[in-house]
Amino acid sequence: MSDAPDITVIDHPLVQHKLTLLRDKDTPVAHFRRLIREISLLLCYEVTRDLPLTTRAIETPVAPMEAPVLAGKKLCFVSVLRAGNGLLDGMIDLMPSARVGHIGLYRDAETLDAVEYYYKVPQDLGDRLTIVVDPMLATANSAIAAVQRLKDGGARHMKFLSLVASPEGARAFNAAHPDVGLYTGALDSHLNEHGYIVPGLGDAGDRIFGTK
Ligand code: PRP
Ligand code: URA
Repeated sequence: MSDAPDITVIDHPLVQHKLTLLRDKDTPVAHFRRLIREISLLLCYEVTRDLPLTTRAIETPVAPMEAPVLAGKKLCFVSVLRAGNGLLDGMIDLMPSARVGHIGLYRDAETLDAVEYYYKVPQDLGDRLTIVVDPMLATANSAIAAVQRLKDGGARHMKFLSLVASPEGARAFNAAHPDVGLYTGALDSHLNEHGYIVPGLGDAGDRIFGTK
């Protein structure tokens, strides 16, 4: 049996090109920020590809028509702080009415366990498709904890969107949350002994916010 993880790789040429620029260690903070915002528009476009539509009666300047519009309640985006905010900004550009939640998590440097320090999400999560965003899926400890927290808070229909994932993390996430669709811009080679994705792009939060 294949041990390939169940993950959708958004391999659009523009995503791949911009991701290469992001990965380059010489890409400066301002450029990194702009690129991740641009990529998030493309990722958002793909991760929302199967949203249901309904129709609304409108009149064009030429004729009346039943025109397609998104069905159901507004989506909720949940950013895993800090680095999730790098993806969140562009996604809100594309879907400005989306509701937004935040989960603050950091990785303990020794154990690599996720430690929660903040949680604020809309109350009616159960009625909305919730897309959780974090650029890096490494061990997946953070992603697994974030999704579990949201399930405990009532979320029922979720997707998890990353920019770069490790096979180890994707498999761990699949095992913990088989009901949550996993999406990424790239599935990389492996994790190193420090739990960093190889080749990856380094510490996403530090590169977005210029903290190192
Ligand atoms: C990074 C990243 C993920 C996590 C991934 O966050 O943004 O949240 O690590 O690693 P994992 O899959 O092994 O859990 P970090 O803990 O560095 O915090 P930050 O976003 O505040 O920099
Ligand atoms: N967090 C990051 O920002 N990068 C990695 O490679 C792993 C965890």
